Amino acid sequence: MNLAKPDIKPVATDRLPELLRGMPKAELHIHIEGSLEPELIFALASRNGVAIPYASVEELRSAYAFTNLQSFLDIYYAGASVLIKEQDFYDMAWAYFVKAAQNNVAHAELFFDPQTHTARGVSMQTVITGLHRACVDAQTGLGISASLILCFLRHLSEEDAFKTLEQALPFQDKVIGIGLDSGEVGNPPEKFARVFARCRELGFHLVAHAGEEGPPAYVWTALDVLKVERIDHGVQSSKDAALMRRLAKDRIPLTVCPLSNLKLCVFPDLASHNLRQLLEAGLAATINSDDPAYFGGYLNENFTQTFAATQLSARHAYTLARNSFEASFIDAAAKRRHIDRLDERFDAFSA
Ligand code: ADE
Ligand code: ZN
Repeated sequence: MNLAKPDIKPVATDRLPELLRGMPKAELHIHIEGSLEPELIFALASRNGVAIPYASVEELRSAYAFTNLQSFLDIYYAGASVLIKEQDFYDMAWAYFVKAAQNNVAHAELFFDPQTHTARGVSMQTVITGLHRACVDAQTGLGISASLILCFLRHLSEEDAFKTLEQALPFQDKVIGIGLDSGEVGNPPEKFARVFARCRELGFHLVAHAGEEGPPAYVWTALDVLKVERIDHGVQSSKDAALMRRLAKDRIPLTVCPLSNLKLCVFPDLASHNLRQLLEAGLAATINSDDPAYFGGYLNENFTQTFAATQLSARHAYTLARNSFEASFIDAAAKRRHIDRLDERFDAFSA
């Protein structure tokens, strides 16, 4: 596949946001529980009779002031406690797809954290069938293709991950891949070597969060021990020149989430974000929203704010959108169709 469209014309800075918002793109790093807006948390809490320790939507939203990943995860897992029934999982995912359509997301790969739910007595069937039904409706109702990636929580044991895999196997046809998320530092990828090897034998695609807060060594072991196909975040890779060469040489996609990195204090401000450095080193970086309800923006906000802060160009926009389709787990014909539409959009924009 060609790596880049050769004739991307420069676009004036004041017209870039329109190009960024309107171009078709894939979202490859979105935790569906992180799309749960405070309004929906309150509606589901009331529907299910679940108590939440906040008096109002405003009070809950004002608690979204994070100092690091763990400070976010504590409130994120509490928010997910309102999800009880199949319809709740459907409603959450459908609300995301409506936003995704407004952001011109043509394809989405959704992370979900089943252990957060099964630990509260919600069955794997409830979680997966609700999310999957929304994925089917996103295709028919909104023209968005979507698939599910089951994430193991890395602060729990590998034994717990094996149990979770066992519970998910009856629904294997509804899950395209396996990921690894939650608190990174102290929970290196190699803790999950055996369960990822089993998932690989079973034919799942494999991804893992690595190098979000954790060191470049975690990116190396995600690649070499877990044998993942994409790295989620991976921004700490720029501290290791040999790792940067490896990621570029093997075109390992990084699903970068700039507003998440800002809100979790991975970078002091967006102007200091290293996305440009990653792209200019030849890495297959993409832009994603991670947990948009908590980090102040869906996909287009991640694009427009990052481009404004780091002076990225129309050529970078094309590369990022194209990378998103190439890094996705759709088949080659679907990739080609999406990239043709992307090319048409850029041609029409500069005509
Ligand atoms: N779960 C939800 N968002 C996450 C993130 N940014 N890092 C790790 N685990 C997560
Ligand atoms: Zn994430």
